[in-house]
Amino acid sequence: MGLEHRFSEAARKAVYEAIYRRRDMREGFTGEPIKHATLVHLLQAAHHAPSVGFMQPWNFVLIQSTEKREALWRVVDKERRSAAVVFEGEQAEQFPTIKIEALREASVVICMTVDPSRKGPHVLGRNSDEQTDLYSAAGAVQNLWLAARAEGMGMGWVSFYKKPDVRQILNLPPHINPIGLLCLGPVTAFPDQPVLEEIGWGERTPLEELIYFEEWGESTPDPNGPWQGLAEAITDNVFRSPGPP
Ligand SMILES: Cc1cc2nc3c(=O)[nH]c(=O)nc-3n(C[C@H](O)[C@H](O)[C@H](O)COP(=O)(O)O)c2cc1C
Repeated sequence: MGLEHRFSEAARKAVYEAIYRRRDMREGFTGEPIKHATLVHLLQAAHHAPSVGFMQPWNFVLIQSTEKREALWRVVDKERRSAAVVFEGEQAEQFPTIKIEALREASVVICMTVDPSRKGPHVLGRNSDEQTDLYSAAGAVQNLWLAARAEGMGMGWVSFYKKPDVRQILNLPPHINPIGLLCLGPVTAFPDQPVLEEIGWGERTPLEELIYFEEWGESTPDPNGPWQGLAEAITDNVFRSPGPP
């Protein structure tokens, strides 16, 4: 069937397991040091993400110092408080409970950056959409996140900050875009659901509501066409959250 390149059953399950058991971690970091060899596995996983024109627009600023963490915590806290003003009612009450302690407690904080000038002004594929450097970097973060989960480590992506604040603390040049403060390290436990789902902030949209057939807005497949039965296949999926049965 042309599937001879498929991974073994165990390896396939492991891929889906990493995807479903990954969580954005905000608390429960033990602060245990990460072995350098393991950190290298994770950074190499990130560095093997796809990138537009093989641009590899990322850098990883590795942060341990208490002084830098406190400075980052303060600018994130400032942003968290200012961001809260747009929410009203119940959401406004929940908002400040969003935790940023991981900046202090995680074993390592990695500032992931994007350099839009990497490889010069004409990067293959990026002339059509200059945001493709950001898409590339998001894939690198996801690789890191999944590899960390496989290693038993949690990661939280903190993006609540004004970029000039982070540039100043980490001495980043003005054209370098800090896209995330990634709080990484061993944790005491992983929740089954996203924390925002647990606190009632939001829920996962059923996949079937997000799929259209052949054109935007067409939710019902042609009964005689190739998409018939897809809804049942979604229900029957054995590799579903929170992990393989
Ligand atoms: C680009 C990006 C930025 C994010 N920034 C923040 C953040 O600043 N603070 C936060 O609490 N969570 C942040 N998150 C985490 C999301 O809230 C989280 O991924 C989502 O609630 C789903 O939960 P899960 O990752 O555990 O599946 C960010 C996630 C992404 C992908």
